[in-house]
Parts: sequence; C-alpha cells; structure tokens
Amino acid sequence: MHQVKIKSPATVANLVCGFDILGMALTEPFDIMQLRLLDEPKVIIHNKDSFGLPTDPEKNVAGVVLLSIIEQMNQKIGFEVEIEKHIKPGSGLGSSAASAAGAAVAANFLLQHIFSTDDMIRFAMNGEKLASGVKHADNIAPCISGAVSLIRSIYPLDIISIPAPDLFVTAVHPQIEVKTSDARQILKKQILLKDAIKQWGNIAGLVTGLLKNDHNLIGRSLEDVIIEPVRSILIPGFDEVKRKCREVGALGGGISGSGPSVFMLSEDEVTARDLEQVMKDVYDKIGVEYNTYVTTINKNGVEVMNDE
Ligand code: HSE
Repeated sequence: MHQVKIKSPATVANLVCGFDILGMALTEPFDIMQLRLLDEPKVIIHNKDSFGLPTDPEKNVAGVVLLSIIEQMNQKIGFEVEIEKHIKPGSGLGSSAASAAGAAVAANFLLQHIFSTDDMIRFAMNGEKLASGVKHADNIAPCISGAVSLIRSIYPLDIISIPAPDLFVTAVHPQIEVKTSDARQILKKQILLKDAIKQWGNIAGLVTGLLKNDHNLIGRSLEDVIIEPVRSILIPGFDEVKRKCREVGALGGGISGSGPSVFMLSEDEVTARDLEQVMKDVYDKIGVEYNTYVTTINKNGVEVMNDE
C-alpha cells in the first residue's frame, strides 16, 4: 500500500461552553488529501487549491505533522502529499486541524496502522502548534474520531469520544479575518467563581444532553459566559444572528472555535435551512461577504476514500 486518498472533515471546537475541551466533526465541508510513501526521509507538498499555503514542510501544517512522524519512525521513509483544501483557512471551522489530522491518519494508514488514535492526535497537535501557537486537541480529536470529543486532559492525553445525536448544523462564515492567536490573546486570564460555576454546569449539562440524546438539555447548555462575551465583539452581526436563530427554532449555538464562523444546531433540515436564511439576511444587511453550510454531525471522522 503506497498511496492513500482521504477526506478530512471540518470541526466545531469548544461547542460554545467547552473552551479547548469539546469539539464536534461536521459532514461538510471537508478537505481531500492524497499521500504517497517515499523511501527517503523527506516531505514533498503539492497544494491543489488556491489558498496559497506554504509548500515548505516546516511551515505547512500537514508538513510538520509528517516530519514529526518521520522523526519518530527513524527509518528511510518520507511522504509526498497533495492537499485539496475546501475548508477555508482562518474560518474557525478547523481548517488547520483537517490538514494535521488528515496527514496523521493517512500516514498511519500507509504505515499499516502502527500508531494508536492517541499517537495520531499527538502528531497532529504539532500542526495546531504551528497554526495557532498552542497545542490543542478540540478540533484534532473529533476530526480523527468523528462525533464529539471531550478533551479531559492534554498532558497526559485523556480523550473521551461521545456519541453524537442526529442533529443538523447550520454555519455561516463571515469573510473577515480573526486569527486564532489574536482571539486567544484577548481572553481574560482570570475569571469569576460565579462564572466558572455557570460554565461547568453548562459543560456537564451539554455532555449529559449528548449522552442522553436530550435535545432540550443540549440547547439549554449551549451558553458561554466566559469566552463568548469577549470574542463575539470581533464578529459583526453575532448577537443578531444568535437571537434571530433562536427565534426561528435553533436549539442553540455560538462561535465556532475561535471564530469568525458561527454555528447553530437544530432538529430538522427545514429548520436548518431557515437558520441559513436568517444568517444570509443578517450578513446581506450588514454588507459582509459570507459562506453558509447546512450539514450534519459527522460520525466517522477522517475517512479513506480509496487506495491503490
Ligand atoms: N479551542 C480553540 C480556541 C480552538 O477557541 O482558541 C481554535 O481553533
């Protein structure tokens, strides 16, 4: 097996109340990557999209992940990779995680599954470090495993997969730039105990709601009193989108990852499409360009498309 083609899905990190500890995979959009095994310790990158990402492996998210795998293998192997991104970098929909996780899973496939899921997460976090300055797994873990992931700890790695309910996801990506590093920089370093109590009540409520498939509890728990009040200032139209989406029947939602995308959960496709219209109306009125997605929760994570 010398070549593999995979699709690597977008993800929504944080799931509103779970900053850095919760994430969910989406069915769409997804990146496509093709990886080929080489017999020399090097990484060759071909970008098959128009995002202009670096092809120097040390500066490319997938590249640093593959380099870290080569280093660990300590054998004469390398990788040639073609990357066709559909998840826009800087969207808040886990674009860097899709490249990093896709590279780790595809490499592991070519190396005949020598690595565990935790190993792949560790390799892929090197890509997140390059992209955002810090290792975090709330996009990587659901990207690899599908559904929802709870990151109980990174050091040591302790990640719990949570089954996902059959809900619809509507997301809007207003075309403004919010760098993850900046969106982390502006956060307060200390929080009030009363806010912490509310937040951990919501996290526990959300996880319980997901496990019990209790949509009402999921909706009630999608509340963030710590991060959203600070970050939402960076996203024009955020409060209006959120309020109108709730009025139209969203269970709830908020900022996707560090933004600027905003996502909403709903129980049926008709409502999900109504929410898309609400989002379009708000951004048409404000005059900000946008992309929208109506999709579902992806239960599989990175998938092999074919191999030869
Ligand atoms: N948990 C991270 C953050 C996700 O919110 O900064 C960034 O993709």
